[in-house]
Amino acid sequence: MRAIIDLRITVQVTVIFSPNHLDELELRDKIVVVIDVLRASTTITYAMRAGAREIIPVASVEAAMKIVGNLHSTMVSDRPATILCGERGGKRVEGFKLGNSPFEYTEEAVRGKALIFTTTNGAVALAKAKYARQCFVSSFVNMTASVDAIASIPGIDAERLIILTSGREEEFSLEDATCAGMLITRLMTRMGTMRLSDSARAVLSVYHQYGSDIYRTLLESDHGRTLTELGFDRDIIAASEIDSVPLVPVLEQNAIKKKLIYSETLRAELEERGLLPADGKALRTAKVA
Ligand code: MLT
Repeated sequence: MRAIIDLRITVQVTVIFSPNHLDELELRDKIVVVIDVLRASTTITYAMRAGAREIIPVASVEAAMKIVGNLHSTMVSDRPATILCGERGGKRVEGFKLGNSPFEYTEEAVRGKALIFTTTNGAVALAKAKYARQCFVSSFVNMTASVDAIASIPGIDAERLIILTSGREEEFSLEDATCAGMLITRLMTRMGTMRLSDSARAVLSVYHQYGSDIYRTLLESDHGRTLTELGFDRDIIAASEIDSVPLVPVLEQNAIKKKLIYSETLRAELEERGLLPADGKALRTAKVA
């Protein structure tokens, strides 16, 4: 008997396992979710909660230094203080203000500042997504918020969603694939049937195999082991905490300036601390800041 093909309009989902597997023009006008659980996505989400004014992801240390140099040579009085952030080999780049541990991105360190952010894989993925129509930064810490953000995109039912996992050294990474699998699983629960590519089906299997103990999956992954060796045990715990930071950083063109907040408690906390932009405070929907 021939299988019946379901031709109803539905969101199409595909997963790309490394930014090096695609050209940035392939993401032009697409809806993209970038995942780098260990640690760029997690760290960016912490930084936005702590009140960073903007985060500019760049692919190389040289490009980051050039941007800062250019900013210093064009003195604009109301420009926010700019700091260099990021890692190579998991460690803070020499001369940079911050590395890539979420715990460094405190209110004291980043509030009101522009962060030029370069990491080995995650920032590369984000830099490639600069032409996307819509780009969210996702990880376990903002899982439900990410589902909310994606499901709220007008017309998403007829769209193609590209999940770009950052991978590791140009290859597949288990923690990002597990996160992508959880995201797709929860999106299907929320939105119903989706048309899944082979790569999307593969991450569902990964999630079923490795999703029952996220902390252990992260700890035992290649990059988790490297981070443990470097002494970043706490970062692995933080990255495994599902829904601990219910906001979604949004990349628009080449900068993350906006955060979508999906928790009244977090919204109230940020408002009280003065960490919402003035226009965000005025919004009644309590969703966008
Ligand atoms: C990356 O972008 O490769 C990672 O975030 C590396 C790290 O854990 O610092």
